[in-house]
Amino acid sequence: MKKTQYVVSCLSALALAGGAFLLFPSLALSDNDDQALIAKANALFKPLPASSALENTELTPSRVALGKALFFETRVSSDGRLGCATCHNPAYHGADSLALTTGINGKVLARNAPTVFNTSLLIAQHYGGNRATVEEQAYKALLSPVAYGNTSNEQVETKLTQLGYLPLFKAAYPADAKPVNVDNWGKAIGAYERTLLTPAPFDKFLQGDAQALSRPAKLGLEKFINTGCAGCHNGVTVGGQSYQKFGITQDYWLVTGSTPKDAFKGYDKGRFHDTKDEADAFIFKVPQLRNVAVTPPFFHDGSVASLPQAVRVMAQLQLGKQLSDEDVSHIVSFLESLTGDIPADFSNVPKLPSAPH
Ligand code: HEC
Ligand code: HEC
Repeated sequence: MKKTQYVVSCLSALALAGGAFLLFPSLALSDNDDQALIAKANALFKPLPASSALENTELTPSRVALGKALFFETRVSSDGRLGCATCHNPAYHGADSLALTTGINGKVLARNAPTVFNTSLLIAQHYGGNRATVEEQAYKALLSPVAYGNTSNEQVETKLTQLGYLPLFKAAYPADAKPVNVDNWGKAIGAYERTLLTPAPFDKFLQGDAQALSRPAKLGLEKFINTGCAGCHNGVTVGGQSYQKFGITQDYWLVTGSTPKDAFKGYDKGRFHDTKDEADAFIFKVPQLRNVAVTPPFFHDGSVASLPQAVRVMAQLQLGKQLSDEDVSHIVSFLESLTGDIPADFSNVPKLPSAPH
């Protein structure tokens, strides 16, 4: 500070934005700092779009309504108990709160259920990226032995018809001669998922509203960028846009406490299990961080329960850095600004067709 600055009165010092920051560190960053941070953030992230509809595929109300009904429908699974909403539950921000999810007949599966919000914007679906789109993900769940457990498409189509779904499929896909089919199951659920976007305070900040983030959240955003987190967690979903190795500085399980899984004949090697290419061993799709603060536990196997701990684990495993408690707390504040508004209708359980007698 220059000597002349010492003589200015307290009041006029307050008028100087930089001075106010020095005197009262708890005040907001200066306007200039805010604008610089907004510009820096916009170079790495993007606000959520209004819609994630596929090109040439309208999200008509009848398609979205059918998709929503099917999302909550459990009677199509082989034990009659499992629907998308069982594991992607409105009560848990589109996830299920379990470390490892429970599949058909109560079998504990090998992975954690991520939230279903904003997933239509990811490069691909699942930790290994073995499903290209939300439509393909929904369609392939039908015959998966650990998910819906059906044995043929015909079996699924018969069940849907018997349950009374024909009018809903007809309304959604009027041009199809045989509208009740598994392809339309995938399309309708996909249409519904494309409406499940959760705009958050961070979107307002990106759009120029400097007040949308608290000061700790802004410091956390700065830290998130400068520490290197945004090298992997970037884009519209703050992650979900690339595949990266989990455990760059050391084997991940030494830090997460992960255990080997029968399904993987050892530790989960991520994308390797889908491609069988050794080059893909321990490569995982970088998860999106939207809603991360409300969807514990963390990582592909839910091995870490607390968000501050997940942040420390990431800094250590991915960047070889130890963060101070203050830095962790600021980063967590930033991650909390990614918690979005749940789509208004998501928690209203729809009325499902009742089987004709
Ligand atoms: C038994 C619980 C369960 C059910 C039922 C279930 N899911 Fe999932 N879901 C999971 C798990 C676990 C994963 C992670 C799987 C992986 O990455 O290998 C997942 C992943 C996903 C993803 C990818 C998310 C991402 O970030 O990559 C989407 C989208 C999804 N599920 C949608 C659905 C839809 C739609 C249905 C119904 C057709 C459904 N799920 C049924 C547990 C379930
Ligand atoms: C080199 C790429 C890379 C960097 C850098 C990186 N991450 Fe990650 N992050 C990943 C991958 C890959 C996963 C998925 C690991 C898994 O679940 O198996 C992940 C998972 C996470 C999760 C858990 C998400 C969930 O829903 O379970 C959080 C939180 C997270 N990262 C935050 C951070 C923070 C904070 C930083 C900076 C300190 C950071 N990451 C740096 C690649 C990276």
